Amino acid sequence: MTDLDSTPVTDVALTVNGRAVSVRGDHPHLLSALRDELDLTAAKDGCSPSGQCGCCTVIVDGKAVVSCQQALDKVAGKHVLTLEGVAADERQRFATAFAACGGLQCGFCIPGIVMRAKAQIDKKGPDLRRDDMARHLGAHLCRCTGYVKVLDAIEAVATARPLEVRRPGGIGASGVRYQAEELTLGDRGYVDDMKVPGMLHAALHLTAHARADVVGIDTGEAASAPGVVAVFTAADIPGALRTGLIYKDWPVMIPIGGRTSFAGDVLAVVVADTREHAREAAARVAVTYAPLTPLTDPHAALASDEVAVWGTDSNVLSVSKYARGEVEAELSRCAHVVHEVFTTQRVEHAFLEPESTLAVPDVDRGTLHVYSGGQGIWDDRNDIAAVLGLERDRVTVELVTNGGAFGGKEDLSNQAHTALAAWLLETPVKCTLSRVESLLMHAKRHPIHMEYTAGCDADGRLRGLRVRAVGDSGAYASVGMKVLERMAGHASGPYHVPAIDVSAVAVRTNNPVCGAFRGFGANQAQFAMEGCLDRLAAQVGISGWEIRKRNVIRPGMVWGPGQIMDDGCLGAEQCLDAVESAYVDARAAGHAVGLGLGLKNSGLGNGFKEWTGAVVRFRSDGVVEVRHGWTEMGQGINTVALQVAVEELGIDPGRVEVIIDTTRELGLGQTTGSRGTLMGAGAVKAACEAARTDGCRPDVDYLGEYRVDWTDKLGTVANPTIHSTFGYAAQVVVMDRDTGRIRRVIAAHDVGRAVNPVLCEGQIEGSVHMGLGYALSEEFPADPDTGFPTNLTLRSLGILRPKDVPPIDVILVESPQPNAPYGIKGVGEIGLVPTAGAVAAAMADRDGVWRCALPLQGADDDE
Ligand code: FES
Ligand code: FES
Repeated sequence: MTDLDSTPVTDVALTVNGRAVSVRGDHPHLLSALRDELDLTAAKDGCSPSGQCGCCTVIVDGKAVVSCQQALDKVAGKHVLTLEGVAADERQRFATAFAACGGLQCGFCIPGIVMRAKAQIDKKGPDLRRDDMARHLGAHLCRCTGYVKVLDAIEAVATARPLEVRRPGGIGASGVRYQAEELTLGDRGYVDDMKVPGMLHAALHLTAHARADVVGIDTGEAASAPGVVAVFTAADIPGALRTGLIYKDWPVMIPIGGRTSFAGDVLAVVVADTREHAREAAARVAVTYAPLTPLTDPHAALASDEVAVWGTDSNVLSVSKYARGEVEAELSRCAHVVHEVFTTQRVEHAFLEPESTLAVPDVDRGTLHVYSGGQGIWDDRNDIAAVLGLERDRVTVELVTNGGAFGGKEDLSNQAHTALAAWLLETPVKCTLSRVESLLMHAKRHPIHMEYTAGCDADGRLRGLRVRAVGDSGAYASVGMKVLERMAGHASGPYHVPAIDVSAVAVRTNNPVCGAFRGFGANQAQFAMEGCLDRLAAQVGISGWEIRKRNVIRPGMVWGPGQIMDDGCLGAEQCLDAVESAYVDARAAGHAVGLGLGLKNSGLGNGFKEWTGAVVRFRSDGVVEVRHGWTEMGQGINTVALQVAVEELGIDPGRVEVIIDTTRELGLGQTTGSRGTLMGAGAVKAACEAARTDGCRPDVDYLGEYRVDWTDKLGTVANPTIHSTFGYAAQVVVMDRDTGRIRRVIAAHDVGRAVNPVLCEGQIEGSVHMGLGYALSEEFPADPDTGFPTNLTLRSLGILRPKDVPPIDVILVESPQPNAPYGIKGVGEIGLVPTAGAVAAAMADRDGVWRCALPLQGADDDE
């Protein structure tokens, strides 16, 4: 114990929500005192202590401040107001406004935004201007909404605009998100808001080298640090060392004698009485390394005999390839040919809620209950059971609605470590990652190097396409091979090309792991394909809209890997037609204009047998339970489930209770690829039909199922049906010629059927915001010498702030998917697929420079 450790702790007196309180003086900041000691959890912790997300905003002496930046001695004697302490009628006004305007998705950022808005409205009342509020929201991040509806809600409160909270009706009726009011007020808890008696806290010790042999681990100093109960290393794992969604190659911890493979590898878990003690002690674990040079260049890794990743035997994770027609002959006959190398960057999800897990053992029963915000509770359950060496039925993973994911919570993060600590100590343990740990550990969007050769005839009709792609998948497999498979499958975009030859390689390196992220490889491919189309259009002398119209995929045509498209693809041309007037008008007005057209599959496809179930149960108290197994992460799956039940059963929405059920195996695989909406709706519909057929008897479980088991794996048949369903979108970016500022985005999205149009619109606005960031400024680079990420704060990620988000006009196109429930196609995945191409085209229209690397705003672009 150091001198510092023995410094006596003095209490700090302050007023919180009108009540005089005294809190321990050793909290690192006000947020910690509020959440951990006073149990006031409306203020969320998205990035403490860096003060960069705004989720922890409270009002101190009338001023909105981020509480993770307030040292306790600074707030001594002051008046602190949290959302819990706001007057009931005012709380209700905010709750109503955010619910009615669709101003939230996952909800994690909203309580902080509400406090900032309250401070501004207190000051300016109805004179609060929208652009001023957008400026004040610069202290906040929202990764879901695109801010449009957030500002609508704040405006409604400021001007006391009467609003009605409409419960959602059946399919196609706009209504409020399930639990929208509780989420707005921060009353609906996330995992880190949970506390159970006897709960301890865990923290992780991460590697100092992306590639090094682990020679020794000394836990002595950590074990004797204040408050520490135990320190565990890989030697304590009773079962499997490695986990993984497809390959079991990701070590829970690196043992002595093992080798680290990326910057997010874990060496030890420290358990203590408080989070701070656990984190302080985790820093004292002493590891002896024999460092090795990391392999960080994917092309060099491909050429090298050295294996980058411990426990693997090759740097080639996967090769996805297919060919149709005589590509070389077609290209040689083309009137116009474009050959270009496109590169895209690694990108971070930046969901606002860092990963958190709570594991609670039942010693008498010999079971373990794990609360998780992951995207696939059954995969999590299976891996945790394997790590603990337990039968699967002794582990339950309960899903707690999370604060955003976008694919970044598919792999296990800290679930196995937390479960291990709780199991071995026979006591509840919670582990919440710091923002830096979160950034280091979870998988990112792939950087991909894509060499495209595309040719068309004199009229601009595509004749041939050759693609060679290399994706940096980082250390562990995650779902990297599937991302590159999807990139290959979507290489040609939503166009018919008679001859095509595609190869995409996923490479293992010692860079951050890459895996699932909204769009899943389609974004990268279509940035390149759209770039080729625009270059060809210029050569032919036709507009970007016209070349897309001439080549867009239509029913009966052969697409990409050979799939013969059904009537679902009518949506592609309909999206194009929907933006035609906006495109023409913006050009006529003299603006620089870019257009992107994209497609993205929903579901997994590629021969995977997909199944999901749902249960409807009429309780004798009048409540109708709808049980499903999908992860709610802001995308609205609970609202979809409710609306399907209302539609099918003709009941009042107030009777429906949606339950994410972890006691029955109702799901299969991850909540990813828009499959929750598509398949979840199908299963709930089937369960309702079963209930109706049987007279809706009370206390009977009516099971409904939905299957997609008719897709083919790439390359197995001549015309494989790779995917059952695709969503389509056309986006127009209108740019000011003088300033380069984006004036407006027009986004036409074919969602098949909009289950809830307002929520659907909100998802599209959010994805355009994410897409503009991807196009212009977002990046998560790694140091080529060390393999360590160089941007380890939210601010450094390049995410667009509210004041930089242009107006977004959403056009919902509903071209139903044959054979899908209600014609649903899903909206989340396709979201930002066309955005980067459209931005690049607008920039080229403005200055004549064809760009081929993301992000587009390089050092020379100061606009
Ligand atoms: S948690 Fe305080 S600003 Fe992010
Ligand atoms: S609603 Fe803002 S981060 Fe999810």
